[in-house]
Amino acid sequence: MNNTVLIPPHVAQDASPPRASAPLVQVEALTMAYGDVVIQRDLTFDIEPGEVLAIAGGSGCGKSTLLRHLIGLHAPAAGRVMYGTRDLYAPDPDAADALRRTFGVTFQAGALWSSMTVGENVMLPLQMFTGMSARQCEQEARFKLALVGLADSFEAEPATLSGGMKKRAAIARALALNPPLLFLDEPSAGLDPLAAAHLDDLILHLRDDLRTTVVMVSHELHSIFAVADRLLFLDAESKTMTALGPPDVLKRDGPEGVQAFLRRGAGPDEGARA
Ligand SMILES: Nc1ncnc2c1ncn2[C@@H]1O[C@H](COP(=O)(O)OP(=O)(O)OP(=O)(O)O)[C@@H](O)[C@H]1O
Ligand SMILES: [Mg+2]
Repeated sequence: MNNTVLIPPHVAQDASPPRASAPLVQVEALTMAYGDVVIQRDLTFDIEPGEVLAIAGGSGCGKSTLLRHLIGLHAPAAGRVMYGTRDLYAPDPDAADALRRTFGVTFQAGALWSSMTVGENVMLPLQMFTGMSARQCEQEARFKLALVGLADSFEAEPATLSGGMKKRAAIARALALNPPLLFLDEPSAGLDPLAAAHLDDLILHLRDDLRTTVVMVSHELHSIFAVADRLLFLDAESKTMTALGPPDVLKRDGPEGVQAFLRRGAGPDEGARA
């Protein structure tokens, strides 16, 4: 098996450890653009089964845009997003729809439907995409809420939840269909350290106990060091990826800009949560 991730020659070497199994997703020479404006180009990387892959980079560099490309919401300007042998953007709408059901997503704004209770929010995908009875849907939704530490919030209105609880409820909804792959856009941004730590624990539980693969946009150093197996760094200036590898390796040996990002704030142990 070829363990080399192809990245452009001007980019730092891939510092990822050797891979144990076939990648879940292969991103090949992806260029992303809005109209004529290129956001990022030449992105080539894999998502490995069972890993937590963090995506980081300066504000506006294209992290959320990359997630949109990975989940089928925005077609590449060039390049491909392959799930196994299937091209997410190949002209086979049925296959693409089936692929899209294999992953859960929480968006940066993370909105729950405010007109429904938290429980109804989590039940919605079950009602839409499974043949479960109302009673089964409720049981499953209660189970998912318990998983994210919100067992008591089934009847709650979203407006009454704290920011961290809303994020966890959105994750419960994303987990409703037991997706093997979960995409989270800045799940711990704006949370207090304790709520962020709970979210990190949840992500590790999903990876270690449920074998969920997690792709997480984050600029929170605590979270990156606590949960990410690998970090993909998107550079705003050069408009391409400048590093891919375990955060501690990149902090030591990564390109200058990536080291600076990972050392910012900077005591020697800034990666450890207080
Ligand atoms: N729908 C759109 N149409 C045109 N340009 C867009 C659109 N969405 C985003 N952009 C632009 O694309 C660039 C990347 O945006 P994106 O939201 O992906 O960045 P980001 O890295 O997620 O930023 P942040 O850290 O602030 O969340 C930005 O310059 C943004 O202004
Ligand atoms: Mg974003």
